[in-house]
Amino acid sequence: MIQKSNNITRVDHRINIAERHAKSGHRGGVVWFTGLSGSGKSTLAFTLEKHLFDLGYHVYVLDGDNIRHGLSGNLGFSEEDRRENIRRVSEVAGLFAEAGVICIAAFISPYHEERQLARQIAGEHFIEVFLSAPIDVCEQRDPKGLYKKARAGEIKDFTGVDAPYEQPTHAELVLDTAVRSVEDCTEEVAALIHDRFRL
Ligand code: ADX
Repeated sequence: MIQKSNNITRVDHRINIAERHAKSGHRGGVVWFTGLSGSGKSTLAFTLEKHLFDLGYHVYVLDGDNIRHGLSGNLGFSEEDRRENIRRVSEVAGLFAEAGVICIAAFISPYHEERQLARQIAGEHFIEVFLSAPIDVCEQRDPKGLYKKARAGEIKDFTGVDAPYEQPTHAELVLDTAVRSVEDCTEEVAALIHDRFRL
């Protein structure tokens, strides 16, 4: 990113991070879901959000399709726009974490470099979860009919069809959503969150 703002000075909060954590009973952090369209990111993210909320966690989902209606509404699916989308979301997720919230981010996030950026911004409280369902399974599911359109040439730059997806190499969790249930995956991610984020 090219820094264009000049003459800006950081201002400190008067509440420190430990005070925020003490109030909620858990640390803030980022749980980052990455995977192909149709791999189950949104389903798992919103199921996990409800599960954690019911347990008393402060939790919020940032989801690709939703964010692209607002914050990233001026971005498309070129490489440059996807990188900018993930840069913005990484910053926002980092702010949620700083506020003491568990932020669940569900984005294809196809580029290794931007996922690393998200990890770097969030600091030590970052869990990357790769939903590894293979493309043939995602394409068979095709919940939004987008693979069909992409194959027909009606959508350009579609991930897995004519746009790349760089598989994570250091994800904390790899969940093969082609063979595992939503409940099973939710339990596994939740267990890691209890372990890492509960005080
Ligand atoms: S990302 O690549 O920038 O991380 P993001 O997760 O925000 O993508 O958005 C992906 C969603 O946009 C998909 O779930 C799908 O519904 C929709 N979409 C529309 N066009 C494309 C495309 N060309 N490639 C991938 N997803 C697309």
